[in-house]
Amino acid sequence: MQIITDPAEMQAIAERLRLQRQFIGVVMTMGALHEGHLSLVRLAQRRAGIVIMTIFVNPMQFGPEEDYERYPRPFEQDAALARSAGVDYLFAPEQGLMYPEGFRCTVDPGPMAERFEGTVRPGHFRGVATVVLKLLNITKAHLAVFGEKDAQQLAIIRRVAADMNVDTKIEAAPISREPDGLAASSRNIYLSPEERERATALHRAIRHAEQETGRGRRDLAAIAKEGLAIVTSAPGSKPDYLCFVDDGTFDPVDTALPGRSYRLVMAVRFGTTRLIDNWRFDCGE
Ligand code: PAJ
Repeated sequence: MQIITDPAEMQAIAERLRLQRQFIGVVMTMGALHEGHLSLVRLAQRRAGIVIMTIFVNPMQFGPEEDYERYPRPFEQDAALARSAGVDYLFAPEQGLMYPEGFRCTVDPGPMAERFEGTVRPGHFRGVATVVLKLLNITKAHLAVFGEKDAQQLAIIRRVAADMNVDTKIEAAPISREPDGLAASSRNIYLSPEERERATALHRAIRHAEQETGRGRRDLAAIAKEGLAIVTSAPGSKPDYLCFVDDGTFDPVDTALPGRSYRLVMAVRFGTTRLIDNWRFDCGE
């Protein structure tokens, strides 16, 4: 595995790979790698001949009160994990090379960025969209894999790619979970043992929704309300939102219609740690 820190060098390597008719897949991360990230690498390996992983804690997507400074950066450990997962190139640029003097332009992802995560984290998705477009241009990837864990991020990246004619296939990987259902996340390490136990309430709310829609209920607003009760019954939990949305547009929905796809989305705080989770529901006849 080759480690590259300079965007120009990464671009030159990617160009050479393309001339050699290699199919390039990219997995973008902020490091602190866990099983969720590695599942993305495996998916990329099934689809592409060369896999580039990027590790960059992108300051533009963090709010002033957020955890940019304390975000975990175990680089040596990450590099070892990436190497043993079979990553071909690890692109880990310094901040100054990604945002040099004179940097001005950003990607405005439009109205989808202004709800849910966007309400709580103003400017977050502008930062995500900007860095993702930069990393696509640097890695020249034919395919980019993103996790469904961050479903709104995925929907926005799909929107940006479509609207900006980005010539990269965007592929979704399913949520990787701990044995008790908690979605794998770099932020789970912030949870105290009690909070970690209580955080399983998010997955219990999802299982409830799965059960209720499974027995034919279509009243999504009511099911979400029941899910909210499950989450709030966990001591110390502070939900930011919990509701069903249309899976394409992220517009809130009250009632499911046949043939449509929905997503139960939620964000819940435990102390200073904020967890997100979601579940997709395809409504049959
Ligand atoms: P990060 O939080 O490190 O996540 C990197 C990728 O891993 C994202 O596509 C995310 O959805 C995916 N991922 C995280 N946890 C997952 C899980 N439990 N199951 C499946 N996939 C999971 O998301 C970002 O970084 C950044 O916003 C980034 C896209 C890199 C731009 O800076």
